[in-house]
Amino acid sequence: MTSNKKLQEWVKKTAEMCQPDKVHWCDGSQEEYDRLMGGMVKSGMAVKLNEKKRPNSYYFRSNPGDVARVEQSTFICSKKKEDAGPNNNWCEPEEMKAKLTKFYTGCMKGRTLFVIPFSMGPLGSTISYVGVQLTDSPYVVCSMRIMTRMGKKVLDVLGDGGFVPCLHSIGAPLKPGEKDSTWPCDPNNKFIVHFPEERMIWSYGSGYGGNALLGKKCFALRIASAMARDEGWLAEHMLIMGITNPKGEKKYFAAAFPSACGKTNLAMLIPSMPGWKVECVGDDIAWMKFGPDGRLYAINPEYGFFGVAPGTSMDSNKNAMLSLTKDCMFTNTGLTPDGDVWWEAMSPEKPPKLTSWLGEEWTPACGKVAAHPNARFTAPAGQCPVIDPAWEDPKGVPISAFFFGGRRGSVVPLVIESFNWQHGTFLGATASSEMTAAAAGKVGELRRDPMAMLPFCGYHMGDYFAHWLKLGKKADPKKLPRIFYVNWFRKSKEGKFLWPGYGENSRVLKWAFERIDGTAKAVETPIGYLPAKDALDTAGMSVSTEALDELLRVDTEAWKGEVDSIKGHFDKFGDRLPQGMKDELEALGKRLTKAPCCA
Ligand code: OXD
Ligand code: MN
Repeated sequence: MTSNKKLQEWVKKTAEMCQPDKVHWCDGSQEEYDRLMGGMVKSGMAVKLNEKKRPNSYYFRSNPGDVARVEQSTFICSKKKEDAGPNNNWCEPEEMKAKLTKFYTGCMKGRTLFVIPFSMGPLGSTISYVGVQLTDSPYVVCSMRIMTRMGKKVLDVLGDGGFVPCLHSIGAPLKPGEKDSTWPCDPNNKFIVHFPEERMIWSYGSGYGGNALLGKKCFALRIASAMARDEGWLAEHMLIMGITNPKGEKKYFAAAFPSACGKTNLAMLIPSMPGWKVECVGDDIAWMKFGPDGRLYAINPEYGFFGVAPGTSMDSNKNAMLSLTKDCMFTNTGLTPDGDVWWEAMSPEKPPKLTSWLGEEWTPACGKVAAHPNARFTAPAGQCPVIDPAWEDPKGVPISAFFFGGRRGSVVPLVIESFNWQHGTFLGATASSEMTAAAAGKVGELRRDPMAMLPFCGYHMGDYFAHWLKLGKKADPKKLPRIFYVNWFRKSKEGKFLWPGYGENSRVLKWAFERIDGTAKAVETPIGYLPAKDALDTAGMSVSTEALDELLRVDTEAWKGEVDSIKGHFDKFGDRLPQGMKDELEALGKRLTKAPCCA
């Protein structure tokens, strides 16, 4: 328990409203985790995987109506509608509270209310913050133990201090004697609600991922982005990696890409170039504050990986696969007859039969997927073979470069280096990606996803760009991270990928590394600096000169089209679009007009 009065009172008030049978304060121990897992196995919610194949690991199948984040049911309830911006759904805070109070009243009957104290970031770091989640889901408790530092040790650090209250219910009260379902939830009434001014989260109806593990997208991005704006730091949807050259010199990079652009793969990349090494600090979120030396220091606020399973294999991401050998949770993958998990593309050969994520018999010929496309693994980050030695350093790691990017079959070159911070902010603010089957929307359609934060920025995106510009103005420009934009996905006229990606992406990272050191050559183009001919190290790699020329070609006419498309994108932010962004767009237009027509 705790002496924290605010916490005690909030737990008491919530218990009165939600009416659970019991209240349990989580201590975060292994014994508690094992007991909760044992209970879920007994109730049929969890399956213990084959101990010889995947020790201490568990398998879950969700309700088919509860399989992913629900952006349409996600709200930013700021006091003023205009502060939520066009990038968020909004509802007046008191109206939303009244509505949800009705749902919450009696919603935990027949269940236990778990109190989960958790720290986003290493305990005691000046970059970290504490949250407390109240939930009626033991699945969430176990997931939070992998994804965050949680339990008694957090209460000890919290003392009488402040915390972000995160209220969660699956919305499935039990009548006396009623048999529980294997994935209780309220699929038709989901609400993922943020009150940025109060720094508070209310989530109802879903038990899955970002809807329910409230430390992740809700706290570490939506609420933290508002905190970061007010306090002068950055909460970003970025991986963090350490990269070391053959001389043993190391830099840290952070990178933001929309989903399905290979973020987890890049975070754990195995460089194709001899002597280079990549180590992973985090694969999804970065919190960054300026250190006393004026540099930006990043921590990974999370403690585990909540990764998309389908497509992950020893070929695509060996280090992720090796992180999954024990102590993991798997949700909505297939379950093999020998008690292990399988998902599409996990291995070249498909199992002859298994039970699918829907609990149906599955064979390779059945015409259905074994795993839901958003099936997930939940794995302790410390198990990653290339976890960075400084990943838990409370000081954070100094960031030398940011990378933005997306999936573009044409127009956008392999890599662009920005002219300066404001131009780099513009590159991030205009980041675009072609939709894949992984997200709702028309496949191939272009979506602008600024800094990959569109679903995660807890306030008006125009103000968010202004925040980036303001930080840049206050900082010493020589100490700020350099900003790059990458596109691994450019295609030939025949529709083939020009760049092999994966480990070969280290060649682009090498160019950036050496640009920062001042040793790599670049050419100035209307869209930014690009690698000079021969500046990109392609030794030992099979890429033709023609492909390389195309990868680095600036198609002036196509870029003029980009200017129009960016105008449309920027118009959405109305008078909150900062002048610096307007200036950058105008300057790009002018540079393109001056450029020779076939540059
Ligand atoms: C995630 C996402 O789950 O970005 O990390 O959707
Ligand atoms: Mn993410």
